[in-house]
Amino acid sequence: MQQRTIGHRSVSAVGLGGMPMSIEGRPDEDRAIATVHAALDAGVTFIDTADAYHRDAGEVGHNEELIARALRTYGGDTDGVLVATKGGHLRPGDGRWTQNGDPAYLKEAAKASAQRLGVDAIGLYQFHRPDPSVPYADSVGALRDLLDEGVIEMAGISNANPDQIREANDVLGGRLVSVQNQFSPRFRSSLPELELCAELGIAFLPWSPLGGITFARAGDLDDAYAPFQEVASAHGVSPFRVALAWELALAPVVVPIPGASRPASIQDSAQAADLVLTPDEVARLSAATA
Ligand SMILES: NC(=O)c1ccc[n+]([C@@H]2O[C@H](COP(=O)([O-])OP(=O)(O)OC[C@H]3O[C@@H](n4cnc5c(N)ncnc54)[C@H](OP(=O)(O)O)[C@@H]3O)[C@@H](O)[C@H]2O)c1
Repeated sequence: MQQRTIGHRSVSAVGLGGMPMSIEGRPDEDRAIATVHAALDAGVTFIDTADAYHRDAGEVGHNEELIARALRTYGGDTDGVLVATKGGHLRPGDGRWTQNGDPAYLKEAAKASAQRLGVDAIGLYQFHRPDPSVPYADSVGALRDLLDEGVIEMAGISNANPDQIREANDVLGGRLVSVQNQFSPRFRSSLPELELCAELGIAFLPWSPLGGITFARAGDLDDAYAPFQEVASAHGVSPFRVALAWELALAPVVVPIPGASRPASIQDSAQAADLVLTPDEVARLSAATA
């Protein structure tokens, strides 16, 4: 598969998002493990998870443990796989997502994630979402300390605006390697952040790159975006693959992380890395609105 770069690591141009395998509507364990193994078989070497990807209170880290188990039970070589996790977002178990950007909390959360992932140092640790009650520089300062202490190998942020991207990179002494924001045919408000990352040479990881679990499963790309469907028909591929190929075409720093809870979904998505769109097609898709 085509490779891209996150910090000093080379990874598959299309990653795997772990969230659908651990939150509401998740599959049974066997199907989830088969989905991760299908991703690895397809050449995916970048997997995104978070300590908050779980359903009920009391099962924090469900997805981290699942990913770790899937890697342990895979028959092939997993040395080159980069697992990225996140901290600072919590799920109390009543459906809400809350924030905690307290530096002391983040440092403990990262150590707990490393333990669940079964690693000495986390490959990429991302501050999940800014906490309005904590100065951003303080939260990101925790990532700087974690880098300096060797608890994490690389640092990223998520749900950040351009000012926060610049601030985080300053706090980290130029060591910010990735920004994970929502970006898809439906949700394009992070285009300025994507462009800033391209300018700074920082990886941009579109989350919910297919519009999110609900929209994607409902066939949103078939129904609401005629140009995506038309380009898909012209190439004989799915509109999901076209959406990911379009995102990849926007900048060489883009590494989408489509979620999946079925092997077939990630098998299809992974092939987006090999789908070459013409400049005219990219322009048409960029102009497409629902
Ligand atoms: N940083 C953040 O705040 C944040 C927030 C949300 C998500 N994320 C990350 O981003 C990842 C992706 O986002 P997401 O999972 O919310 O949404 P998404 O990637 O836009 O959509 C995921 C859904 O699309 C379906 N799908 C994927 N590829 C497909 C294909 N080729 N053909 C048909 N269906 C396909 C899957 O269905 P099946 O389930 O049936 O396989 C899956 O449930 C998450 O897993 C998570 O790692 C981060």
